[in-house]
Amino acid sequence: MNQEELNALFNKQASTYETQHTKLAPIHDGLYFQLEWIFSELPRSAHILCVGLGIGAELSYLANRFPNWRFTAVEPSGAMLDVCRQKAQNEGYAGRCSFHEGYVETLPEAELHDAATCFMVSQFILAEEARCNFFRAISDKLKPAGILVSADLSSAVGSFEYKELLKTWVSMLHAANVSAEAIEKTHSAWAKDVAILPPEEVKSIIKRGGFGTPVQFYQSGFVHAWFAKQSQYVCA
Ligand SMILES: C[S@@+](CC[C@H](N)C(=O)[O-])C[C@H]1O[C@@H](n2cnc3c(N)ncnc32)[C@H](O)[C@@H]1O
Repeated sequence: MNQEELNALFNKQASTYETQHTKLAPIHDGLYFQLEWIFSELPRSAHILCVGLGIGAELSYLANRFPNWRFTAVEPSGAMLDVCRQKAQNEGYAGRCSFHEGYVETLPEAELHDAATCFMVSQFILAEEARCNFFRAISDKLKPAGILVSADLSSAVGSFEYKELLKTWVSMLHAANVSAEAIEKTHSAWAKDVAILPPEEVKSIIKRGGFGTPVQFYQSGFVHAWFAKQSQYVCA
């Protein structure tokens, strides 16, 4: 799927995204819960870059807990960003946010950020070099030693662990034991459109994108999350 097709897909999902993802909420809650502690060293008036934040679940979590923090919300799907902006207005933190419909690369030059979040986004960038450059663009928007927290689907595709996780993952989504056909359908869709790589490879991509050694702090099903500090490594 190219970027235009991806944007069209998320534009279509925007109005129903929250209800469709209710089943996954406990997985994401576990991830958000730890953000507070990973970000505990940040200044009282921190400025956070939220990349590919969709309808803004991570923004809502952080903005409600840290009333002095400001946020830059970057999202290429206009419909997803509209829902995110509306949610920010309803919950009362829109005044602390700047919304950018586009990409980190198209973000106007501004002050550097203290930290960034990027949840379930880089997995859609299939070419490894482009994925590395995506992290490089985030690194360029962070202060030295600024903290990145990134999450993606990750596994060694085809391994025993992958096959077993896939069964439980698809069953969870269907809230039932599902057919072999449904499992195969998910596997084929992922093989085409999602770059599911083993955790060590994702770590290496993040590092080559301009960060120190990423620390994996979370796994729930296929969702893995890492934090890393902005550094001066170069893509190679
Ligand atoms: C699976 S959703 C995740 C949304 C949100 N981060 C969450 O965890 O609920 C992926 C989001 O990434 C956005 N996205 C896709 N490609 C992107 C890119 N190159 N840069 C920034 N965001 C992107 C999509 O539009 C979509 O909103």
